[in-house]
Amino acid sequence: MTHTPSTPVPLLLLGRGADPQSERGVECPGDLPAASDPDLVERARKARAALGDRVFVLGHHYQRDEVIQFADVTGDSFKLARDAAGRPDAEYIVFCGVHFMAESADILTGDHQQVVLPDLAAGCSMADMARILQVEDAWARLEEAGVAGATVPITYMNSSADIKAFCGRNGGAVCTSSNAKQALEWAFEQGEKVLFLPDQHLGRNTAVLQLGLSLDDCVVVDPHQPGFGVTDEQLRAAKMLLWKGHCSVHGRFTAESVADVRARIPDVNVLVHPECQHEVVTGADYVGSTEYIIKTIAAAPAGSAWAVGTELNLVKRLAAEHPDKTVVFLEKTVCFCATMNRIDLPHLVWALENLVEGRVVNRIEVDPDTTHWARVALDRMLALPGSGAVKD
Ligand code: 13P
Ligand code: SF4
Repeated sequence: MTHTPSTPVPLLLLGRGADPQSERGVECPGDLPAASDPDLVERARKARAALGDRVFVLGHHYQRDEVIQFADVTGDSFKLARDAAGRPDAEYIVFCGVHFMAESADILTGDHQQVVLPDLAAGCSMADMARILQVEDAWARLEEAGVAGATVPITYMNSSADIKAFCGRNGGAVCTSSNAKQALEWAFEQGEKVLFLPDQHLGRNTAVLQLGLSLDDCVVVDPHQPGFGVTDEQLRAAKMLLWKGHCSVHGRFTAESVADVRARIPDVNVLVHPECQHEVVTGADYVGSTEYIIKTIAAAPAGSAWAVGTELNLVKRLAAEHPDKTVVFLEKTVCFCATMNRIDLPHLVWALENLVEGRVVNRIEVDPDTTHWARVALDRMLALPGSGAVKD
């Protein structure tokens, strides 16, 4: 079987020269408006109004405020996937988020709909940590150890379309941080083990804190080690086979930052995303998806104090929206998601104005076979019951 990875190389930062082998630094055709253009907001409004219901703009919670103001809906990756599927009448879906989210939107929307990512360099370092060829090799390693037949592959939404398709083809599913528990429960009804891709932290935190497995039930499958860094014996003994991937934003929070904020702010509540390291999650008071974090702060009493371990755009927005509460960033150092921040107002204006002119720029299109199998895995996820917090 040959595979053409939809995300062939890492989607990294900056630079605008075109590179045909990479989405990194792809030049936007035509002129990108200057960031200093004082008319940008007006231009975005005008283009948005000219397109009317033909366009549906989705904004992930980690997007900049300048972009979020033009989103028809905001959400975490799970909600946005559902929202995209719920607007079959919109000709264009402009996805203000990252590449894997736009791919998922393309998979879940009709053939008559076109998905646009305003900057193709908006990738995800975590998604890039699991490549289809690596995952196929790992599966061969599981076959060699005699455990592939008992293993269900589950991939976090934050993965490329071909990894989702791999899970669909091999009896697995997609999950998000809102429904990882339900996805793992479902998987353990189908098989004895789970290969969890690509975020080891979400996999470990969910298995241990929500399913009651122990850390000894988990092994790390490292694509950069000979034999994936695991013995046959370890593969046979483990229940959770955790891919060695992580989020470069959430992975930066440390147990020290939790201790430090507790020392600085009396009675502070520590609220973190399950992509954080296990010791951060176990040291926190509340753990849950982006949507859960937003709801928890909104429902908190006036005067309460919160240290939040997630992307900085969202934490700053929460602090501004809740002036009656103290909302601070868990780390002392700045921690934006650099690739989420690639989508700025000039790129959004550029994408919308091109649509007004009838030009679809930066279209994200997943091939039919990958779409079919990724959709199988996404549909298994969408059929899971509800969502919830990891720890509250
Ligand atoms: P959720 O949107 O599922 O909370 O995931 C967080 C994230 O890192 C998105 O890139
Ligand atoms: Fe990827 Fe982390 Fe950025 Fe989300 S926050 S897009 S997982 S790097």
